[in-house]
Amino acid sequence: MPELSDYRELGKRSAAYKAAEFVETGMTVGLGSGSTVYYAVARLGELASEGLKITCVSTSAATTRLALDCGLDLTGLDEITSIDLTIDGADEIDSNLNGIKGGGGALLFEKIVALFSKKNIWIADSSKLVDVLGKFPLPVEVVPFGYKRVFSILELMKLNPVMREKEEAYYLTDSRNFIIDLHAGKISDPEGLDREIKLISGVVETGIFFNIADSAVIADGDAVTILDKH
Ligand code: A5P
Repeated sequence: MPELSDYRELGKRSAAYKAAEFVETGMTVGLGSGSTVYYAVARLGELASEGLKITCVSTSAATTRLALDCGLDLTGLDEITSIDLTIDGADEIDSNLNGIKGGGGALLFEKIVALFSKKNIWIADSSKLVDVLGKFPLPVEVVPFGYKRVFSILELMKLNPVMREKEEAYYLTDSRNFIIDLHAGKISDPEGLDREIKLISGVVETGIFFNIADSAVIADGDAVTILDKH
């Protein structure tokens, strides 16, 4: 359990608890990943113990473990035909509700689940709001086979790639792929950049989530604001 005395942690929890209010019995709920989603999963676990009946789909091994610990029912994406609502975090969110995700490495499953969802709500503390995406490094998931070639192309595109590492080895996603973090600077055309990067063979997914979120629940401490896509 994170230390709630931290103001940002309070924001994360406030946003997560507000988003949990949109979950109703009978729903299939996508569970994102990360430290903000932690609070949403914990809250949904509490509500489930009080009678809320939902089926959840996880976006990472870490969220699966947490959801099971919290007593939530899980199903696989291929066992269902759609997801009613997905609650997920983000690393950056702009005023059009486009975002960067994947700081925790779960971008691929998060995007697949999001695209399968009728509604996507992002939860974040207010530090995640930005005017223009790009201060946070943009994660790109690549297959290990031939990754150096992909890395060189990203260098030629002047996107300042850096291999993500963990414990002195390359970081591995749940799909056992690598992550290349791009220090691209301001991203003025997120949709175009996403498309351009995905044209490189070996790239699996990017952390640009364009036109995916329907709403963002943003909290500054315990003051919550809901932003809807316009
Ligand atoms: C996981 O890979 C990410 O996409 C997270 O959703 C994102 O990094 C937000 O995480 P935090 O809530 O931990 O900041």
